[in-house]
Amino acid sequence: MQNNSYTALVVKEASPNNYTREIETKTIKELPQGDLLIRVHYSSLNYKDALSASGNRGVTRHYPHVPGIDGAGVVEESSSIDFSPGDQVIATGFDLGMNVSGGYGQYIRIPAGWALHCPQHLSLRESMIYGTAGFTAAQSVNKLVSHPVLPEQGKILISGATGGVGSIAVSIMAKLGYSITAVSGKPEASDFLTKLGAAEIISRQQASDSSGKPLLKEKWAGAIDTVGGEILATTIKSTAYGGLVTCCGNVASPELPLSVYPFILRGVSLLGIDSAKCPIHIRQKIWQKLAGAWKIENLDSLATECRLPELSGIIEKMLQGRQTGRVIVNLL
Ligand SMILES: NC(=O)c1ccc[n+]([C@@H]2O[C@H](COP(=O)([O-])OP(=O)(O)OC[C@H]3O[C@@H](n4cnc5c(N)ncnc54)[C@H](OP(=O)(O)O)[C@@H]3O)[C@@H](O)[C@H]2O)c1
Repeated sequence: MQNNSYTALVVKEASPNNYTREIETKTIKELPQGDLLIRVHYSSLNYKDALSASGNRGVTRHYPHVPGIDGAGVVEESSSIDFSPGDQVIATGFDLGMNVSGGYGQYIRIPAGWALHCPQHLSLRESMIYGTAGFTAAQSVNKLVSHPVLPEQGKILISGATGGVGSIAVSIMAKLGYSITAVSGKPEASDFLTKLGAAEIISRQQASDSSGKPLLKEKWAGAIDTVGGEILATTIKSTAYGGLVTCCGNVASPELPLSVYPFILRGVSLLGIDSAKCPIHIRQKIWQKLAGAWKIENLDSLATECRLPELSGIIEKMLQGRQTGRVIVNLL
């Protein structure tokens, strides 16, 4: 029997451009319409959540708001033939936690098309260690593997390597036998990255070339970029003939200072990754890989677990680029 009230982290605009985060009691009837009422067991922290939780109107248009673009839990009510009460489900992306009350509340109500059954061999907790970050990393890996960029072709560069997307990308690619060069701004995290499987670690400065040259020495068979800006431009200019670079993030910059030469003289490809609107049939395939052949053995070592009251401080740390690995939120 469900309770009518539940706890959530609510972000409010206290005064113009001044946002507060408070733990509040809310009622289920305040949730939007939807096919599935889900009791959230775990959520996670992604960069987009940190933006939503700090009043970024490009992510969340209206406040007060409950962020959390990820939620994993158990269906309590369903009007969909695809789900029954008691089913364990994962919901990531779409408008969850952006403009629809998200996973930083113990309940969410969403369209059935936003949920998928939690795969066998993956717990709800493990699914949130991956979360949107892991799903995005796996989509990026999938593009490289399918291109194909093969392990014997050379090194793979992964930027923002200690972050959520980066750390999971390093782990999966190392598991698949690729030689990884990690770009990180945290010299103190070199043990962490080596344990994940990085063969080499370089600084953000080493990964950025400001000479303005249109092409640089070919160093990478492929790359997974999570930061954008000059690091992404330098990566593309340094990618070997026929290589592939994926691009998913903009923590460094949304700009891409580049000419067309890497594309037209070296046949380099740049592929964009979107996790929010990714169609459900692709999601299902990627999550099966995350639960199966690509499952990271030491998945737990990537995550720090917190509860709602601790989340606000960790959000600030993420906004300053100081967070390492994944953060999961326990809502049990
Ligand atoms: N397209 C999509 O669907 C999608 C999905 C998920 C995430 N994203 C995007 O991917 C990016 C990473 O997300 P995340 O959840 O992994 O965030 P995160 O956990 O905060 O990781 C970002 C990492 O980037 C590095 N970094 C931070 N500031 C930087 C700067 N100014 N210059 C260069 N590197 C910097 C840091 O790693 P080091 O200290 O190791 O360098 C940081 O840990 C974000 O832009 C996010 O919005 C996009």
